[in-house]
Amino acid sequence: MTSTSYAARRSQLTTYFDRTAVEAWARLTTDAPVSKIRATVRAGRDAMRANLLSWLPDDLTGRRILDAGCGTGALSVEAARRGAEVVAIDVSPTLVDLARERSAELLGGHRIDFRVGDMLDPRLGHFDHVVAMDSLIHYSAGDIFRALAELGLRTDGSLVFTVAPRTALLTLMHAAGRLFPRGDRAPAIVPITEGGLRRRIGGEAALAGFAVGRTQRVNSGFYLSNAVELKRLDPPQPFPQGGGRLS
Ligand SMILES: C[S@@+](CC[C@H](N)C(=O)[O-])C[C@H]1O[C@@H](n2cnc3c(N)ncnc32)[C@H](O)[C@@H]1O
Repeated sequence: MTSTSYAARRSQLTTYFDRTAVEAWARLTTDAPVSKIRATVRAGRDAMRANLLSWLPDDLTGRRILDAGCGTGALSVEAARRGAEVVAIDVSPTLVDLARERSAELLGGHRIDFRVGDMLDPRLGHFDHVVAMDSLIHYSAGDIFRALAELGLRTDGSLVFTVAPRTALLTLMHAAGRLFPRGDRAPAIVPITEGGLRRRIGGEAALAGFAVGRTQRVNSGFYLSNAVELKRLDPPQPFPQGGGRLS
């Protein structure tokens, strides 16, 4: 059951990614020339995608993967080429169309099940791995962890996702962001500290069967994001206090 704040933010993000930012986002996710600032973001995102994909098994044959908030689909394509049965979902119909179009010539014999909708839709079924690259960062901490808890109920292997770290620079950039006219602003990114992350994960009963595995910060110019792996414990064990540290 999703909260009102989750639904409200999802609706803002749909407008933002489907209309306000759709062209910029389409361009950022190609090799077309972009400003120096955006080039740092592109490089950071490429590094983050490679990092998240490296946390999945090399051979993904027969593994069911959810690309939660797939955007233009680059991660889905790479996972499908490694044999995964990918369900790629995004709330932006325009980005899903673009992802479908772009993937057509890259997939060889593989296929991706593209959907428009909410990543938390239980009708998507069960997965071996769920990947949410930069698609939860705009939600409140409470909504992020409730979303992870819902996804966890349907995930047999691992949840890999990114959160925005809380740093002085990011706080400054947020303050600067408020100077732009309201209509041009991206929905705010919600930073999360490492302590907050661990506390929240520990507090979610539905995540009791998971432990924090690898963590990795990617920092490239204006791109700054922390990757986190939550791995299912088998058999289920109490949540450990240790585990990986965010670098
Ligand atoms: C910053 S983009 C990242 C896209 C993609 N994961 C990537 O890294 O290239 C965030 C994406 O998440 C999508 N999104 C946000 N909330 C969502 C939700 N609840 N369900 C599905 N997609 C969502 C947005 O529409 C947007 O395309």
